[in-house]
Amino acid sequence: MSETVTLTIDGQDVTVPEGTTILDAAKQINIDIPVICYHEHLTGNGLCRICSVDAGGRVQAAACVTQCGNNMNVETNSEDVQRGRRTILELLASTVNLDEAPDILDLLDEYKADTLRFPDGARRDMPVYDDNPFYLRDYSQCVNCWRCVQVCADDAQFAFALSFDGRGFNTTIGTFQNEGMQNTTCVFCGQCVGVCPTGALKPKRQALLEEGYDPDSVFEMTRRKRKPKKDKS
Ligand code: SF4
Ligand code: FES
Repeated sequence: MSETVTLTIDGQDVTVPEGTTILDAAKQINIDIPVICYHEHLTGNGLCRICSVDAGGRVQAAACVTQCGNNMNVETNSEDVQRGRRTILELLASTVNLDEAPDILDLLDEYKADTLRFPDGARRDMPVYDDNPFYLRDYSQCVNCWRCVQVCADDAQFAFALSFDGRGFNTTIGTFQNEGMQNTTCVFCGQCVGVCPTGALKPKRQALLEEGYDPDSVFEMTRRKRKPKKDKS
């Protein structure tokens, strides 16, 4: 039988199996903690910190990767926690194009983030990679959540076509030696597109329809070109 721990979250006691994250324990008692990089079917990496809560430590703890401890007293929505979330959102808005990230746009509203708080913040303006018939990669809309990397790697597909590229502010998602997707181990399963929380990864057909092409032209532009059959006579 697994050991359990009992803690208090926003004044409510909850008992959970050892190893449970604060995020999952809170969910059990109907307390929602916002997430961006976390996805319930992927390994959490604690990258965006939007889920940070006050768990009594020197600094706030990322609820998606921090395990519950016995007698922990967690505040998920204190003034400090809210201020931290607001600042993260304001920094994101100053840097990344969030126009096609509906969940993050909702958070900007919820936390009353001032999207113009850092007007001189450098923008991550990057070229759109259009290097295969299936999907586009626009890293000016990427929040470096790592979900696409994780699903492409050992959480699901084991293709390992994507990884981090660059350093510091210029860190982005990339391919080995920046090769086009067709020269990588990508199998075009589409799972990276499915887990992307922004418009950074987009099906090419969707992009072409949005540009105003009619469905027949879109089909023609994106259909798989088959090799002609060999004449066996
Ligand atoms: S491309 Fe999408 S899924 Fe991948 S890191 Fe960027 S935002 Fe996350
Ligand atoms: S959702 Fe927890 S760190 Fe991103």
